[in-house]
Amino acid sequence: MNSVYIVKGNIIYTSRPAEFAVIPNGYMIVRDGRIAYCGESIPSEFESYPVEDYGDNLIIPGFVDTHAHAPQFCNRGLGMDKELLPWLETYTFPEEAKFSDLDYAKTVYSAFVNELWRYGTTRSILFGTIHKESTLLLMRLLSEAGLSAFVGKVNMDRNSPDYLIEDTDQSLHDTRVWLEEARQFGPLVRPIVTPRFVPSCTSRLMSGLGDLAVEYNVPIQSHLSENHGEIEWVHSLHPDSSSYTDVYCEHRLMGTVPTVMAHCIHLSDEEMERMHETKTMVAHCPYSNVNLSSGIAPIRKLLNHGISIALGSDISGGHDISMAKVLTEAVGLSKMKWAEVDASYASLTLPEAFYMATKGGGQFFGDVGSFETGYEFDALVIDDHELFDPNERSIEERLERWLYIGDDRHIVGRYVAGKLLDEPPMAM
Ligand code: GUN
Ligand code: FE
Repeated sequence: MNSVYIVKGNIIYTSRPAEFAVIPNGYMIVRDGRIAYCGESIPSEFESYPVEDYGDNLIIPGFVDTHAHAPQFCNRGLGMDKELLPWLETYTFPEEAKFSDLDYAKTVYSAFVNELWRYGTTRSILFGTIHKESTLLLMRLLSEAGLSAFVGKVNMDRNSPDYLIEDTDQSLHDTRVWLEEARQFGPLVRPIVTPRFVPSCTSRLMSGLGDLAVEYNVPIQSHLSENHGEIEWVHSLHPDSSSYTDVYCEHRLMGTVPTVMAHCIHLSDEEMERMHETKTMVAHCPYSNVNLSSGIAPIRKLLNHGISIALGSDISGGHDISMAKVLTEAVGLSKMKWAEVDASYASLTLPEAFYMATKGGGQFFGDVGSFETGYEFDALVIDDHELFDPNERSIEERLERWLYIGDDRHIVGRYVAGKLLDEPPMAM
């Protein structure tokens, strides 16, 4: 793509968590998919280029979902009566087993990709299943849609039902073959090494995956410290390790390549230090934490430890794919932490949560999630005029209202890396 165009509208984004940057009736110059300029008027050297004029609409960065399970898409809103471990056995594992069938995978994954597009999740970090063919299919559908994602073939070789478990050598072999085949998708859709969580991976598998991540220079994702029963189980499986976090470190699954860990609700201070030292990002999943009664992640404390926080829908522990709703829920849950648990945990502000849902998670992809010069142009155009309000509102207030009471019907344009995306097709 060798192109320059200009986008005009009410621009609002967070280059830092403390506040929104707002440019009413502003302009962005997009050159070869990246922002060359963002400001109040068109610099004279760009005056001759075409302008996409979005009038009074809002223009915000695309959303980044840093933790979702694509194969759990049909389980949204089901099985919210259990905690993590029985929930996995009763609802999640039987559903994921169906993805050995490529026809089933195509039906569900095309609907999932359509929904990501619909809700403006331009970048995502996804779990597939243990099945490499259906995971490659998910990558192909994302790529065809023009969406950007890290996608993981999941690894599981212990404590798993016989219908959803791998032999250790086969798991490592399949992961290598999948990493080779995943090269075909290019820079927007990339693989991520994905041990499900410590209880479902033997030491030999975890070490082998740590080595593969370094050999192929791909990032790693997993789950960490989500539920008290899970944490006790990890301690009994690894009595010589000082913590759940240490188990990952000992198997080179943290501290080598970029890593994102979902949840991190019950970490000790020492574990938070390890997270900071190893530059591990946290995917905070507020809906999931509520639905599975997992707890309220101490986000303020993690931030104070210098840990990067991003947000995740955790479909289907979380039931809502909308990152607008996930980010408002993160604000709400942080208020409950402050009110009910510990008043020293200042609740999250809206710009802080918006930052997490855009630039915070976007950092995992490079220069993504902001409208600063050099950033990839991922953007949503929001027409909020149907949200009835006879009052004059600021751009910030209009964004706040849309985040809380708006939905996908108000997203009228979606750009990824400079490309305006059409609606992806659903499989028949
Ligand atoms: N821990 C291990 N697997 C899962 C999963 O599928 N969802 C959640 N929320 N936690 C997990
Ligand atoms: Fe998860």
